[in-house]
Amino acid sequence: MSAPGTAAGAARTADGSPGAPGTAPVLAVTDLRVDIALRHSTIHAVDGISFDLAPGERLGLVGESGCGKSTLGLALAGLLPARATVSGSIRLGGLELVGAGERALRRIRGRDVGVVFQDPMTSLNPTRRIGVQVGEALRLHDGASASEARARAREMLELVGLPRPGEQLDRYPHELSGGMRQRVVIACALICRPALLVADEPTTALDVTIQSQILELFDRLRDELGMAILLVTHDMGVVAGHTDRILVMYGGREAEIGPTREVFAHPRHRYSEALLASVIRVGVPRGTVLTAIGGRPPDLAAPQPGCGFAARCAHADAVCRDAVPPERAAGERRWRCHHPAPGAGEVAESGTVSTEVVP
Ligand SMILES: Nc1ncnc2c1ncn2[C@@H]1O[C@H](COP(=O)(O)OP(=O)(O)OP(=O)(O)O)[C@@H](O)[C@H]1O
Ligand code: SF4
Ligand SMILES: [Mg+2]
Repeated sequence: MSAPGTAAGAARTADGSPGAPGTAPVLAVTDLRVDIALRHSTIHAVDGISFDLAPGERLGLVGESGCGKSTLGLALAGLLPARATVSGSIRLGGLELVGAGERALRRIRGRDVGVVFQDPMTSLNPTRRIGVQVGEALRLHDGASASEARARAREMLELVGLPRPGEQLDRYPHELSGGMRQRVVIACALICRPALLVADEPTTALDVTIQSQILELFDRLRDELGMAILLVTHDMGVVAGHTDRILVMYGGREAEIGPTREVFAHPRHRYSEALLASVIRVGVPRGTVLTAIGGRPPDLAAPQPGCGFAARCAHADAVCRDAVPPERAAGERRWRCHHPAPGAGEVAESGTVSTEVVP
């Protein structure tokens, strides 16, 4: 990860873990920017994102395709391509990731942050046995012997709900079903009990039954291991059922962040409002018409001077087109919109009072 002039921090707790649970955020992201250089242009894939994650907290990251979700997730895991330039700060416990060298990032990956991607086959080595792959991070980070790593891998496969874990240790990825492989990837990510799990569309490739089993597994492991989870997904139903807070991204920027229940009930940013109006949600009155968002997401190589959503927003005016909306906050909520939707109990322009909708 290349970064202009940011030094890696070094503070750690005595046992080597990245922070004391319950006392400080596991993760603090401040004004994070990721630019990706192409041959003739630069993509501003993440453009000034800030948020914290408490131990055990689950944050859903949502937004249309191409808005920078995966780039943000990769930045947290130190897995960005070499042509990416990063600025701002990512503090994982006491460690600063922005500006850290590849060796330091390799130590952090697997030990402090675990990563699960959409397609388990791209994360697993087809030529190596499951037990070796799951135990690998333990050998690398904790210096575990082959037999210790194998024993812990078996325990972890059991924890993630793989049937007959002892037998699976000697199998190869192609001998397992898609759902089983994804459980193996999760076991690989969690074997060192990281403080943070980044899960990028971890269930999209799976059928609905397996999908809900994996999400329940995340919830259980969060309870058992106390790890924080950043869950990247297109599925608002997944966000509603499995996250505590939601960060809505649009065009690389933060549109809105807040407790999931509150944002679902009363989205403030007009993009969040449009996004939620385009999906079926529990609690929305029968007969409510779903509305697709017209137009296309902005070109991240040519950022607009004002709000990135202006070209598609029914509420846009000259101010929206000229000036980037400032951040506004109320309680645990933050949003960036010149003409926000009404909050709970506020009167909308139409004269109706905004009422509670349960996600
Ligand atoms: N390695 C790369 N090389 C060139 N461009 C990239 C690279 N990675 C991401 N981008 C660009 O950065 C922008 C953000 O991409 P990103 O994959 O983060 O979006 P996303 O929100 O995860 O989308 P999706 O929902 O489709 O997964 C896109 O314009 C994408 O084309
Ligand atoms: S700032 Fe303006 S254009 Fe952007 S979402 Fe809000 S109302 Fe719409
Ligand atoms: Mg993505």
